[in-house]
Amino acid sequence: MKNLETSFLGISSPNPFWLSSAPPANSAEQVMRAFDAGWGGAVWKTIGKPTPNVSSRLSALDSSNSKMIGLNNIELISDRPAEVNLREMAEVKKKYPKHALIASLMVETEEEWKDLIRRSEEAGCDGIELNFGCPHGMCERGMGSAVGQEPKVVEKITQLVKGVARIPVIVKLTPNITDITVPAEAAFRAGADAVSLINTIKSIIHVDIDTFIPYPIVGNKSTNGGYCGPAVKPIALQMIGAIARKKGSQLPISGMGGISNWRDAVEFLLMGASNLQVCTAVMHYGYRIIEDLTQGLSDYMTEKGFQSVSEIVGKAVSNYTNWESLDLDYKVVAKIHEQHCIRCNLCVVSCNDGGHQCIDLGPKSKEERGTPIVREVDCVGCNLCMLVCPSPGAITMDKISSQDVRHTIAH
Ligand SMILES: Cc1cc2nc3c(=O)[nH]c(=O)nc-3n(C[C@H](O)[C@H](O)[C@H](O)COP(=O)(O)O)c2cc1C
Repeated sequence: MKNLETSFLGISSPNPFWLSSAPPANSAEQVMRAFDAGWGGAVWKTIGKPTPNVSSRLSALDSSNSKMIGLNNIELISDRPAEVNLREMAEVKKKYPKHALIASLMVETEEEWKDLIRRSEEAGCDGIELNFGCPHGMCERGMGSAVGQEPKVVEKITQLVKGVARIPVIVKLTPNITDITVPAEAAFRAGADAVSLINTIKSIIHVDIDTFIPYPIVGNKSTNGGYCGPAVKPIALQMIGAIARKKGSQLPISGMGGISNWRDAVEFLLMGASNLQVCTAVMHYGYRIIEDLTQGLSDYMTEKGFQSVSEIVGKAVSNYTNWESLDLDYKVVAKIHEQHCIRCNLCVVSCNDGGHQCIDLGPKSKEERGTPIVREVDCVGCNLCMLVCPSPGAITMDKISSQDVRHTIAH
């Protein structure tokens, strides 16, 4: 096993994997079990003025072969008193001094911020995460995403916190905004030590077509929730990459949003995150997924020759560019590999109706339906046929030379 130890803002942890602020990091009993299982750190479930929670509060999107590819919640911050949470945090830190412990805070007034920062420091927390991201309930009270969507307010509260805190301050951003770099820059101007993202995406996941009530149902009503899990990973990767490649105002990034396995984790590191947080995958499969995360990351590092996790960070950032910088001479065409083709002809149909009409059906024999044939000269290399093909390896996209490109254009 490679050494996966990391130092994020000077906060060291046995590996870069932290529980994000959510139900898996709600109590000392849970966090200690998670640390025993191998997690490197935890951002405690957000504390502030305790709020009652509703029942039910979760709903999920399934795909045909996987449960909970997206999770939606209308849970608010911790419903337990701050003193109970802080006492338990102190217990955890005392017992696990080498693990990272972060207090996630969300309050309203200057006095409340100052009070909770002081008490988090007294509890021995290694850092503070400011929850400017929650897109349901708390934002109606002027907190959570209501702050994260207003760069001036992000800057003001971060400045206030930085003026008081003696431990690193991480600003947790909301993805419910047009350009994520704007609040990230506000956090940077205010002196934040890092940003973390993404919090959940404002969403309604289903509507019951018999009762006409959206999910999750509370009596005979519902409300918009926050969306997370594997389905949000593309949005998180883009937002992390956008911050990482912005010149002049980069802050260290703690990345989250759909990390479910070690491959996801590597992608987040490559896109610029130097610390990783996980919620939905733990809610789905339990703390034990840390074994896949750490072993997979270690094996990847061995295979690629990386000596430390930090060597991976940001390796993909320079390859994320503007459309204008893409090479218009680069050309791929679809190739059908007959030995793997199951003759379902989905590629023919999708290309014909939703692509660029360049796949014909070859002659049928008595035994078999025809094999698709690509008219390379008309293929624009969009990838659609390969994406819909259910048989691995039956369609690849092959690069063709610039000479062939000219030939193709001439036609
Ligand atoms: C039920 C639930 C409760 C959550 N509570 C909080 C919270 O109290 N504070 C916070 O900052 N984020 C909270 N989150 C958001 C997560 O910390 C995380 O940002 C988000 O779920 C994306 O990560 P994931 O895709 O790994 O779940 C919550 C998420 C869920 C599903």
